[in-house]
Amino acid sequence: MSIAVVGCTGSTGVATVKALAALSPAPEIVAVARSAAKATELFSDLPSVTCVEGAATDPRGLRKALTGVEVAFLNAPPTEDRAELIIASAAAAKAAGVQRLVVLSVATCGYVRTCFGKQFLKAEAGVTSLGLPVTYVRCPLFLDNILGQAGTVQSDGAMYGPTKPDVPWRGVSTDDVGKAVAAALTGAGHEGKTYKIMSPPATWMDIAAAVSDAAGKEVKYVQVPYDAATEAMIGMGFPSWQADGVNELNHLIDSGDPVFGGDDDDFATLTGSSATSVADFVKAHAGVFA
Ligand SMILES: NC(=O)c1ccc[n+]([C@@H]2O[C@H](COP(=O)([O-])OP(=O)(O)OC[C@H]3O[C@@H](n4cnc5c(N)ncnc54)[C@H](OP(=O)(O)O)[C@@H]3O)[C@@H](O)[C@H]2O)c1
Repeated sequence: MSIAVVGCTGSTGVATVKALAALSPAPEIVAVARSAAKATELFSDLPSVTCVEGAATDPRGLRKALTGVEVAFLNAPPTEDRAELIIASAAAAKAAGVQRLVVLSVATCGYVRTCFGKQFLKAEAGVTSLGLPVTYVRCPLFLDNILGQAGTVQSDGAMYGPTKPDVPWRGVSTDDVGKAVAAALTGAGHEGKTYKIMSPPATWMDIAAAVSDAAGKEVKYVQVPYDAATEAMIGMGFPSWQADGVNELNHLIDSGDPVFGGDDDDFATLTGSSATSVADFVKAHAGVFA
């Protein structure tokens, strides 16, 4: 079977290619990127991977890249027009003769008072309307974002965020996204299904305790005002729509919204194993904080 990963250079794209390549036997993997050279550098040690150029912004080129592919994963670019780009990718896949799609989406899809919820509602509706069998894998915040706090863990012994320290929430690691997507791409019976994948719940106090163990020193979680968090994200290069969107998610966590809690987790349904906990995730990346 030939399986394409469109947007293979992103963190979830890389994780998906690696999870597919680890299967025995590995399928034929077509890694599609805006830059085939970048993809080749990432996957040079994986013999089952062929890297080709293709992007949603060039539907004709993407159609060519996907010709001969049976199943495709469509990653979402981190752009304000991602709904349109995802729909354009799906249309190119359909025109190329791809028979089935797996599409990355977000846990808040359909939360129309949030920017990301609206974007992905539009994306899912547009893809579904094309009539190809499709599986949506909806993700909450990535646990990998915690690694972005390594600098202040090292300099101040602290992590900063606007959310309350004692509210449990559920994220997911991008490695687990890759495993779940690989399972949806290669398994049977996933057509027409929407899966939400989540790690076990943890609070920021739990995360600080896990990071303290990893760093070998006490690390505090410091709650900061929402405006300061927005400013910090913009300082790190986030466009304002994205910084505001992330804080909409943080407000949902603060309010105890079930979208980041509850027990509607499909990771085990897809993969047959449990999603990585925050403690195990931090332990696996301990070197980043030391
Ligand atoms: N961070 C979180 O907590 C979180 C949680 C849930 C969902 N998400 C969203 O999930 C999606 C996937 O996440 P990710 O971490 O895999 O994303 P990512 O690492 O930012 O990569 C996404 C892919 O999009 C491509 N891309 C970037 N700009 C593009 C453009 N203008 N046109 C076409 N392609 C473009 C990148 O290709 P190049 O290598 O060529 O740049 C990359 O292959 C993103 O939309 C992200 O915002 C994020």
